[in-house]
Amino acid sequence: MKKYVLFLFSLLTLLCIVTGCGGEKKAEGPKVLKVGTEVTFPPFEFREKGSKEISGFDMDLIRAVGKKLDMQVEILDMDFEALIPAVKRGNLNLVIAGMTITPDRQKIVDMSEPYYESGLSLVVRKENTSLQKPEDLKGRAVAVQLGTTGEEKAKQLAGDKVRSFKTNEEVFQALKEKAVDAIILDKPVAQYYINKHHPDAVIVGDTFAKESYGIVTRRHGELTPKINKALAELKQSGEYDKIYEKWFGKEPAKK
Ligand code: ARG
Repeated sequence: MKKYVLFLFSLLTLLCIVTGCGGEKKAEGPKVLKVGTEVTFPPFEFREKGSKEISGFDMDLIRAVGKKLDMQVEILDMDFEALIPAVKRGNLNLVIAGMTITPDRQKIVDMSEPYYESGLSLVVRKENTSLQKPEDLKGRAVAVQLGTTGEEKAKQLAGDKVRSFKTNEEVFQALKEKAVDAIILDKPVAQYYINKHHPDAVIVGDTFAKESYGIVTRRHGELTPKINKALAELKQSGEYDKIYEKWFGKEPAKK
């Protein structure tokens, strides 16, 4: 009897070694997609009050892309200006952060086909009627997020009085406290902040030049075509439109 039990036991042990004891076969499981973003950019990426989870249009879109690629998506919040260097070093597989496709960025990283049409706008305090158009910004203090196209635009228009902050919360705070006279920020994001948190601020004038957002991947990496294919499929299947409508309502989808 004892012998029999012992035999059974060793058989089980052997089986366990061969099959990996019911554990996940790691090599074949879905691979992880390390995604970088910066979370003070609602409704593209932000933390709802009291929640740790990062939500937004970009987040839903990249999770849908991850599904298409059969990869698990892990989202990491970083400083905006650190995102491209992290992709370059290989610490991130990709970035989705409402990032505008620009020739300068395309020299360093790959950017996907556009997934959202946007543009910069000018924000001032409601009571400030002296600032109406870009030319009025000359020599004025303007708040922007560090490393953004808004920062670049502000430097062109206002000169060296531009103040760059790590987060857009600080950008709006600076306007509120009258440390600056204006903000330059992507229009849908400016609109969101004004509606939700800063009713005493207002967008003035037209949007500056059109900008398109793209997903960032390593230059000449194998991921770029896969991302483009996934995006095209999501647009084709109507999944993109669903995500768009969830965050922006029923206007015609801007592709
Ligand atoms: N579209 C602008 C840019 O590309 C701002 C993006 C800021 N994104 C963010 N997640 N904070 O420079």
